[in-house]
Amino acid sequence: MSKPGEFVGSLDCGTTSVRFIIFDKYADIVAEHQLEFPQYYPHPGWHEHDATEIQEHADKCVEAAVKDMVAAGWAADSVKVIGITNQRETAVAWSRTTGKPLCKAIVWTDSRTKNVVAHFQAKLVETGIEVRPGEWKKGKEDGVEALRNITGLPLSTYFSGIKLRWMIDNYPDVHAAHEADDLLFGTVESWVLYNLLGGAATGIHLSDCTNASRTLLLNTTTLQWEPSLLAFFGFRPSILPKLVSTSEVYGKIAAGPLAGVPVGGLVGDQQGALVGNKCLKQGEAKCTYGTGAFLLFCTGGEIVKSNHGLLSTVAYQAGPNAKPVYALEGSIAVAGSAIKWLRDSMNIISSAADVNDLAAKEPNAGGLYFVTAFSGLLAPYWDPGAAGTLIGISQYTNPSHIARATLEANAYQTRAIIESMLLDSGAPLKHLKVDGGMTNGDLAMQVLADVGGFTVIRPEMRESTALGSALLAGSAIKLFGWDLTKPETLAEVNTKGSREFAPELEEGARKKGWEGWQRAVERSKGWEEGVDEN
Ligand code: G3P
Repeated sequence: MSKPGEFVGSLDCGTTSVRFIIFDKYADIVAEHQLEFPQYYPHPGWHEHDATEIQEHADKCVEAAVKDMVAAGWAADSVKVIGITNQRETAVAWSRTTGKPLCKAIVWTDSRTKNVVAHFQAKLVETGIEVRPGEWKKGKEDGVEALRNITGLPLSTYFSGIKLRWMIDNYPDVHAAHEADDLLFGTVESWVLYNLLGGAATGIHLSDCTNASRTLLLNTTTLQWEPSLLAFFGFRPSILPKLVSTSEVYGKIAAGPLAGVPVGGLVGDQQGALVGNKCLKQGEAKCTYGTGAFLLFCTGGEIVKSNHGLLSTVAYQAGPNAKPVYALEGSIAVAGSAIKWLRDSMNIISSAADVNDLAAKEPNAGGLYFVTAFSGLLAPYWDPGAAGTLIGISQYTNPSHIARATLEANAYQTRAIIESMLLDSGAPLKHLKVDGGMTNGDLAMQVLADVGGFTVIRPEMRESTALGSALLAGSAIKLFGWDLTKPETLAEVNTKGSREFAPELEEGARKKGWEGWQRAVERSKGWEEGVDEN
């Protein structure tokens, strides 16, 4: 006899793997299943996914986790609602008629679009953007400023609208579909939701405001697609998904073991982790160390404009009529992927966790700095031409120094973002909440505290991204009384405690290391300028 349960599911579609986690009302995990999916790197700087493979892996994860839940004695209908969270700026283009992808998805890390960025940079300066009927803002100052005021973002290869432009210009099928009004564009949550709700047969094409805030097409004040930007980039409005909040019922799953279960949460994975860490109020910050690292600082109902290389982004909207909450974000393209590189390409460790043991063999990096600019540098440097740089190598250098320099690279980039946040917000950071695969390593966390000079708080239960989307989904149907607009309703969620890492390095050594890092970054900048990869 199976027991009746009340659970919430979260489908986390990340950059390298998909997983489905089933949580109970305390955020204890009832069942989970994770699968890695193929990565495609067809040319230097290119990174692609097969959107169909993402969907297939997602379906398998749901199936396997539900099977485990049932095997543990719970009734098959115990999952009452699910949320979706995802890698954010990855662009997917598919056909309205067939529901099938028209090309490989271009992943957020892909930097093939440098020339597209240069083209629009010039257009911003020469033609500008029409900010009100008949009122144009152009030029290096005003044009760039206008774009940032509307979207919170700079022009960069990172954002999905730029990748979509490249697809339309370079893939004849995507171009033809755009001309024929058969093209549907979406980020990964939009694609996965479309499929879960029935695909081309139902044609439900939606995107939430957090993922939309990473396209370069969203007006973050009105939470609507900005017509002047669609004109600027040359897109038909009909290719874009309808915009929705991060917490509402979008529809019911069409098939599979969860057929009939509502989907109630859609959120970009980094915003999901902010919610999952319960950083819901102004001044609360978290950093997630996954493939990349993403530090989000909640600014409440206010859009804080950064003058120091950070992004202003939508954090969440707890329902269609709720006021949006915003965040400042610093994005680091390479974090865990540098450790993967040590494992898979350099073969100096056999598992990612080993990086801590290898690094622990040396008390410091022996004068080595590793600027992990594998596809340029994101925040706060924004240099697509920066190259990966390992500097300070001598006869003395050994693999442990390299491992340690990799952990430090992560910490230095985090510090660079925090320094920018302090300048923008004026408020000192007391501590930083962390999650993601890299945070399992105690040494990695101690290095972060030492380099940063702040206390690092690592919660016991660190599935924050998935938990955030589960909270949004549960909140949409008031499951367990959860209501994201009333944080007190989440008091019983994830109360397992945390471990703190306080800085131990003496100030002089911290200062010296920071200066060395800044010099190393200067060496890495601009290396690939003018390289044409199109
Ligand atoms: O902005 C990219 C981010 O959403 C990817 O996150 O965890 O898949 O590396 P992750």
